[in-house]
Amino acid sequence: MATAVLAYSGGLDTSVAIRWIKEKYDMDVIAVTIDVGNEKDLQEVAARAIKIGAVKSMIVNGREDFVNYFVWPALQAGAIYEGQYPLATALARPLIARLLVEVARQEGAVAVAHGCTGKGNDQVRFDVSINTLAPDLKIIAPVREWSMTRDNEIAYAAEHNIPIKVTAQNPYSVDQNLWGRSVECGILEDPWAEPPADVFAWTSDPDSLNNLEPTYYEITFKNGIPVALNEQEMEGSVLIETLNQEAGKYGIGRIDHIENRLVGIKSREIYEAPAAVVLHSAHSALETLTLSREQTRFKEIVANEYARLIYNGQWYSALHQDLAAYVQNTQRFVSGTVRVKLSRGRCQIVGRKSDNSLYSLGLATYDSSDQFDHNAALGFIKLWALPLTTQAQAQLLPSIGIEGNLLNTNNHKVQIAENREEAEAEA
Ligand code: ARG
Repeated sequence: MATAVLAYSGGLDTSVAIRWIKEKYDMDVIAVTIDVGNEKDLQEVAARAIKIGAVKSMIVNGREDFVNYFVWPALQAGAIYEGQYPLATALARPLIARLLVEVARQEGAVAVAHGCTGKGNDQVRFDVSINTLAPDLKIIAPVREWSMTRDNEIAYAAEHNIPIKVTAQNPYSVDQNLWGRSVECGILEDPWAEPPADVFAWTSDPDSLNNLEPTYYEITFKNGIPVALNEQEMEGSVLIETLNQEAGKYGIGRIDHIENRLVGIKSREIYEAPAAVVLHSAHSALETLTLSREQTRFKEIVANEYARLIYNGQWYSALHQDLAAYVQNTQRFVSGTVRVKLSRGRCQIVGRKSDNSLYSLGLATYDSSDQFDHNAALGFIKLWALPLTTQAQAQLLPSIGIEGNLLNTNNHKVQIAENREEAEAEA
């Protein structure tokens, strides 16, 4: 019998999918549960897949790969989608796709399957990645293909003796990994509704923290990658978990985003990403010290492109390789330490230092040790202003007359209107 490899989460959709794929496609199902730091009892999840009818069930540990090949490059790039979303879900998809393909190859499977709906970004990320890595593999997306409501699925599960945890119905759709937690659906679909307390699982409500004293952390980076907390070196996933906990206690990292999905829908998602928020601000603080003005300006453009590309499922592209190479090169001097202060709902950068710092006290100071050549400023200003003063005298000043005001950018419109009135009066 042909085999399909299913990305199995243990939830209702993928549990039903195990039986549905068997019925509909007459294929054996191998369930693969991928650990990207989604802190469930994965042994229990994997065992359940067998009970439901999977011929094999595997747990694949993707944590360090996720951190080293997806999260750190995105951090180094400063990749944040639409200025808000640190891309946790989006970053995990291409890794999960790659691991599914690897298992499919090992097991000689002809298909891979995932539990995405037909409305979201994740189906695109999975399908594009799988098609790119293994164009011969068939993609099965049961939830996109069947037309079952949640109640239909529960009924299907009952009919087929599929053990599901019928917990009090969770009104939200949640996806989580080391880099963050994404929550949508339910009351959150009303963009005017404030997220209720039960949306949050990783962060305290900042307004409930009256007695919590601020705390400080020193984060050390090597080539743009965080390597130590308070001078203690640790593995990437541990560092991220620690910051998720610590910053989460302070209610840091809550994000409420109306985002533009690739498929054209605007959707409202609540994110919890304490470590991502702290690390992005610390990393960019270190870059303020170690990158030049022009590098910073250009890197912002790249950061936006990089974020779009991740969001839009184009990880396995030549463009990504190109941007990643640029980003890596920018990080060669981004080493040093940033001091952050965590307080209620707030992460503040209070100090930064680097052996590669471009900050020069001799140039910056206003005291007597000043080394800056003040006279050179005069000549600089003269040439910097030259095109402006030339154009003002030739064009801008004559058109507004002595009463005019260059601050008013509507002057030219007034002028045009006056000209028209004059012309009409003459006619
Ligand atoms: N909107 C986010 C993205 O496209 C998260 C998607 C998954 N969200 C969820 N609640 N299941 O990356």
